[in-house]
Amino acid sequence: MAGQTRPCPVIAIDGPVGAGKSTVAQALAQRLGYRYVDTGAMYRAVAWKARAEGVDVNDREAVAAIARAVQIEFLPGRRGQHILVDGADVTETIRSPQISERASIVSAYPEVREAMVALQRRMGKDGCVVMEGRDIGTVVFPDAEVKIYLDATLDERARRRYEELRRKRERVTLEGVRQALEQRDRRDSTRTHSPLRPADDSTAIDTTSMSVKQVVGEILKRVPR
Ligand code: DC
Repeated sequence: MAGQTRPCPVIAIDGPVGAGKSTVAQALAQRLGYRYVDTGAMYRAVAWKARAEGVDVNDREAVAAIARAVQIEFLPGRRGQHILVDGADVTETIRSPQISERASIVSAYPEVREAMVALQRRMGKDGCVVMEGRDIGTVVFPDAEVKIYLDATLDERARRRYEELRRKRERVTLEGVRQALEQRDRRDSTRTHSPLRPADDSTAIDTTSMSVKQVVGEILKRVPR
């Protein structure tokens, strides 16, 4: 157990797509007055920048160079956090299914992960942070004071993701979303470098039939205060 040198806890929230990480992490951060860091948005930012520069997502070297040079900022906005990539507001653009697909590819490159993990460690070094992703409790902050692994059934995760995309008027089908999600899960959990897996000392929460409030309540019980 470490973390004694930090004045305030790091709360690591990991899990697959649609497990409820973003909603729960944001609600928790607001409740505690902590900073919220969405690390998935950072891999999406790299994928977006590569596309904007006309770089082939399969060109590992070129994508790695982008990851090392890109400037990623999180800014508070009236309706949640905004993400800026080299000054451009990409908050909405990075949520498209095309960027989801590309983010999953670039996040498997060790050089890209190395650059993002360094940024994430810097963002969380003083604690008072809720950081969500796939490898926060295992790699980024293995000494996090609170480690949560959120999960839900594939059907429920696909349903949540489908509804989210429909609200944004994306033309998708439930079956299409389910298949894309399964494929992304497989890629995220079978990659060699930092695959998605629960940290040995994490608390697993199945959110399938829980409300956001209930999940937040469960996590709050574990936050040292
Ligand atoms: O959580 P998300 O869907 O926004 O994440 C986008 C992609 O980035 C997803 O394929 C998993 C990957 N990712 C990762 O490898 N490590 C993280 N800490 C966060 C996301």
